[in-house]
Amino acid sequence: MTGSNIGGVSGVSLAALLRSVSKHVMMKLPSFIGYFAAALLSTVVAHAASDFKTEIYPLIETHCLKCHSATHEVNGKVLKPKGGIRLDAAWAMLKGNDDVVPVKPKDVENSDLLRVVTLPRDDDKAMPPENKGDPLTAAEIATLKKWIAEGADFGGWEGNLEGKPAAATVAAKVPVKERERELFYAKLAEGLRPPVAELLAKAQAGGARVAPVSPDSPLLRVDFLTGVSQCNDQAVAALAPLADHIAHLDLARTNITDAALKDVARMRRLTRLDLRSVKITDTGIVQLAALENLTFLNLYGIPVTDEAVTALGKMKSLRNICLAETMITEAGKNKLQAALPLAQIVFNPDLTVPAGKGAAKKAGN
Ligand code: HEC
Repeated sequence: MTGSNIGGVSGVSLAALLRSVSKHVMMKLPSFIGYFAAALLSTVVAHAASDFKTEIYPLIETHCLKCHSATHEVNGKVLKPKGGIRLDAAWAMLKGNDDVVPVKPKDVENSDLLRVVTLPRDDDKAMPPENKGDPLTAAEIATLKKWIAEGADFGGWEGNLEGKPAAATVAAKVPVKERERELFYAKLAEGLRPPVAELLAKAQAGGARVAPVSPDSPLLRVDFLTGVSQCNDQAVAALAPLADHIAHLDLARTNITDAALKDVARMRRLTRLDLRSVKITDTGIVQLAALENLTFLNLYGIPVTDEAVTALGKMKSLRNICLAETMITEAGKNKLQAALPLAQIVFNPDLTVPAGKGAAKKAGN
């Protein structure tokens, strides 16, 4: 790894996520936390990728295509796609119309296909419409959600190309960010050999979940989601042999202290760090300054103060920072924004939480 700072690139793929977080900043605290958790989960958790043809298409075919296919004739009757929405082609799902876009890869919140299948049954827009078809089961919805969260890979399926606009429009819409992201990680991984299996096994034995950031990448994502309370400073120290490989680290709600951040600071390829609701302080944050590829930092619910702002402001690679529910003041936030003009900062002193609820949530954590 050279000292070059290439952190800016991956921020792009997260920008949309954070924009949508700010849009929803007024929603209830628990769903806000859930949103962040879901966003992180979708990139951090290791699982088998969805297969469009065997898992997704059959659901759409069974529940939706009767009403959402290209204009066609049945028994002399001309049937148009209902609501102007076609779900019979990949391009059509990605494009939608002015108001509705069925599938936005990785953007579960704004994918209308998911919205309509989760609406209350008596809602006009609930799909399939009430009395016109059985609602999707929770498992089916989860399957669709997972597929979109992972990036809505159609696995080469194109569907009905009739009506598809000139290639450039659709092509430009989706993969650019994806390509930038791939390039960024390829560059980050340059010269890095895959981690030794024995070391992976060791880290896993210590309670960490470890997986490549993408198939074939030597870079790793690590979380402790199967036992956050068991994750402490020792568990983070035990990751040292993998320090060069770790690009994403989720320590949310673990029992680490400032001491662990000394070890985190040695993970030179770290791009995403989630420290949500851990008991670290300004002292710990200062140590993170060494992470020159860090683009995403979640400090949600941490008692850091304006003291940390100077240190954070020096981390020029940061593009997405969550400061919600910290002790950083509006002035501190503004100072940070001035130091990092390219960063999107989630800061919501107005977040309205009924006192009882907030307390319960914190106790529950
Ligand atoms: C029996 C016919 C029928 C079936 C089956 C059906 N839809 Fe629809 N769909 C409609 C109609 C009618 C509208 C237009 C509703 C409106 O504009 O109020 C619509 C509109 C929509 C919209 C646009 C909603 C909006 O906010 O304007 C989406 C997205 C959608 N359907 C998705 C689906 C999905 C996904 C399925 C399968 C799970 C499905 N539909 C199954 C008839 C159907």
